[in-house]
Amino acid sequence: MSYQQQLRLGMVGGGEGAYIGNIHRLAARLDGAWQLVAGAFDVDPARGRVFAQSQGIDTARSYGTYQELIAGEKNRKDRVDAVAICTPNFTHYPIAKALIEAGFEVICEKPLTATIEDAVALEKLARDSGRFVGVTYTYSGYPMVHEARVRVAKGEIGKVRSVQVEYPLEWMATAIERQGNAQAAWRTDPKKNGRGGSIGDIGTHAYHLAGFVTGLKLEALTADLATFVEGRALDDNAHVMMRYVGGARGLLWSSQVALGNSNGVRLRVFGETGSFQWFQEQPNELVYSQLHGRVQLIKRGADDLSADAKARTRTPPGHPEGYLEAFANLYAGFAEAIRARIDGREPGPIGRNVPTAYDGLKGVAFVEAVVDSAQGDKPVWLTPIAV
Ligand code: NAI
Repeated sequence: MSYQQQLRLGMVGGGEGAYIGNIHRLAARLDGAWQLVAGAFDVDPARGRVFAQSQGIDTARSYGTYQELIAGEKNRKDRVDAVAICTPNFTHYPIAKALIEAGFEVICEKPLTATIEDAVALEKLARDSGRFVGVTYTYSGYPMVHEARVRVAKGEIGKVRSVQVEYPLEWMATAIERQGNAQAAWRTDPKKNGRGGSIGDIGTHAYHLAGFVTGLKLEALTADLATFVEGRALDDNAHVMMRYVGGARGLLWSSQVALGNSNGVRLRVFGETGSFQWFQEQPNELVYSQLHGRVQLIKRGADDLSADAKARTRTPPGHPEGYLEAFANLYAGFAEAIRARIDGREPGPIGRNVPTAYDGLKGVAFVEAVVDSAQGDKPVWLTPIAV
């Protein structure tokens, strides 16, 4: 991948001690498509400015707040092209709205917003304004996830019958939110996180991954939410039974308290003539099983993979690629999608099927339906926005 001219990136959030902002910075750098030139990195303006300078950012572009960033960048000739939002969920909407209204493209963390009202409004704003809004559903950056998607669409496992998707984590198995863990503190506060605990934080990834690979649209669901850590205000474990349009069934499990699982994202798709299995802790492999017991290991980097997988591959088989490369694929994809729109052409393979505001809205609508189902103790049929 090569780029004649880099896009200029700004960032909101992701300051000292934050988690995902650093992953964004590494990912944006990997292929040289982006250059980080401005930021309002911290909820504390002074800390944010100091952090910006530690990242080599010009003092004039080391902002205290996102409002200052917008005011400072808006009229510059070399203004940022896009701004990445790496802040807690409840801030995504006001920050994204202000950026879009000022004419910037946006790369937003998931879940798109903390409430369904904000998600509907933001998706509409993105559509009406024509601004690009990419959403960092990390797992759709992996080449072997794309390979599975292409092969399912080609009919290699026949009609899909069932989808099993899970995202178990263990880091919130105790009440660390009451022991000074900043990341856990906002994630367990409904006002900052939104209504769905584990289901909003990581269930949204699993939901997107399942729909992304199968192309299936969700029709109805019934959910059981549990809070295992005493005193926690939101679910930390979710089981969701799903019914897709056309009759396929799905089971989704998200958990923040599943001891033994560091980041165990796993997808299994079962069709009439075969199945695919992908596990993010072995992301270079896709397991393909066919009728009569034949099992094949498809490896990243192999010659006969799809153009979509090849576009997201940098090293030959045996030289593992992983999380950072997958995240970088999203960044390369967002750059290509933005450039293609500016040039008035179709994006190349890396810029196709990148997650956007509509995928973000669907994720928030999914969380809303899950919480409604669990609280009402009955199945929920999804409205058209959620399918
Ligand atoms: P964090 O708590 O580690 O970091 C949040 C950062 O945002 C901090 O630096 C804080 O000072 C800053 N901040 C808060 N409000 C701000 C404001 N108004 N202006 C400027 N900066 C502000 O949070 P974490 O874990 O990095 O999560 C951030 C977002 O990323 C969340 O929406 C989360 O769901 C998402 N996330 C996504 C992941 C993925 O795989 N795509 C993985 C982890 C988190």
